[in-house]
Amino acid sequence: MEKTPRIKTILTEKPLNRDICVQGWLKSKRDSKGLSFLDLTDGSSLSGLQVIAPETLANYHTDVSRLSTGCAIAARGQLVASPAKGQEVELHAREIIVYGWAPPESYPLQKKRHSFEFLRSVAHLRGRTNSLGAVARVRSRLSWAIQQFFQQRGFFQIHTPVITTSDCEGAGEMFTVTSLDLQQLPLANGAVDFSRDFFGRPASLTVSGQLEAEAYALALGNVYTFGPTFRAENSNTSRHLAEFWMLEPEMAFCDLEGDMDLAEELLKFLIADCLANCAEELELFSRFIDKDLPARLDNVLRHDFVRLSYTDAVKELEQSGREFTFPVAWGIDLQSEHERYLAETLFQRPVIVIDYPKTIKPFYMRVNDDNKTVAAMDILFPGIGEIIGGSQREERLEVLSARMEEAGIDLASYQWYLDLRRYGTVPHAGFGLGFERMIQFATGMANIRDVIAFPRTPGSTAM
Ligand code: 4AD
Ligand code: MG
Repeated sequence: MEKTPRIKTILTEKPLNRDICVQGWLKSKRDSKGLSFLDLTDGSSLSGLQVIAPETLANYHTDVSRLSTGCAIAARGQLVASPAKGQEVELHAREIIVYGWAPPESYPLQKKRHSFEFLRSVAHLRGRTNSLGAVARVRSRLSWAIQQFFQQRGFFQIHTPVITTSDCEGAGEMFTVTSLDLQQLPLANGAVDFSRDFFGRPASLTVSGQLEAEAYALALGNVYTFGPTFRAENSNTSRHLAEFWMLEPEMAFCDLEGDMDLAEELLKFLIADCLANCAEELELFSRFIDKDLPARLDNVLRHDFVRLSYTDAVKELEQSGREFTFPVAWGIDLQSEHERYLAETLFQRPVIVIDYPKTIKPFYMRVNDDNKTVAAMDILFPGIGEIIGGSQREERLEVLSARMEEAGIDLASYQWYLDLRRYGTVPHAGFGLGFERMIQFATGMANIRDVIAFPRTPGSTAM
């Protein structure tokens, strides 16, 4: 097929008075005397290209007059300066080819605004709307910005496995992967005999690539893994997905402070990159989704993040005079209402809470000298709550094995992880950034189901 320029390039470079061909989908059509105005998009930018189709076209009455929202076409003609308001250039068509019709009586998307709930029911088509198309472009940009950030700093990307035999977070929220016939499970001593399963032992989808990333951090120094992760947690909220993407850097010869510094630098880098490269999309979000978006993005860039200990955070919450649904006391896990009070009400900027009680955090976090807390850090964002969770890792073999035993973990299957402490162990640290939560913050989108193409949540696979 003929290679045609993208509409974004045409709108930027404005190759006037030259013959060009564009291909895309019709956003809308308006008929006037002797001609039709076609608003054409090819997904490359929010703004479409206005195409003017005169009734002298050979197929005007047979094809062009029947076009409707969603039809796929090619338009060939000259690009000229537009006399009308609203666009700088327009294409005067000499030829229009219709690739695909979209009968208006059944095509679900119309020119009007649809609710996000409705759009979720047509997840396979919603990328064609202004808002979901813009989200997809921001997502792609942020993904690229992550790669740039780490590659510029000499980190190596590791592709950690999706199928795993370890439960990194120890929360038991794993999806089992099996090739056994669920109707006829092989039993041994009354339990499923996994020795006859595909891998010869129980396996699941990963909840985090961290443990494997640690192995490579202790070989290559600074690494990151970025990919899909899975959690079978029954959380039907606007911040949880069963399948989500996580970015996990891991650094050898690094402590909690270095970890926090990198995380803060990364978050600022991503927001600055988005502001510089997704201006058109951000303007749409500020206009239709969240008018405070520019101020909230700017606020992250302008301030140092607040850093305070869990113990001090609990004091702040106790002294707040607030009635929380979940009462506050030292030792509790912070709930979303607590996190939001800290980031939105009290400090009104990102907050890093460190040194959580060891009883509420996973086995791999480094035990502090007080023997009560671990070198953990959660980054709380206004409007989002926890966007990053990380820690310095326990690098001392005896302390780590003791904690794993305490947590009831079967040490036999984690010998490889303990080997990392047996042989050439070093202080190391890392964190996980929830990619969808990052996109939510950057776009102002209220529901996490609307920042991933095909959301997977309890009871729903979208398609
Ligand atoms: O705090 P989490 O559970 O940390 C880990 O998994 C560590 N192994 C990361 C590490 O140190 N390498 O998850 C990290 C982040 C959270 O802060 C949150 O942003 C996101 O992942 N996240 C989710 N995002 C969407 N849906 C879910 N169900 C999520 N669970 C966690
Ligand atoms: Mg966490």
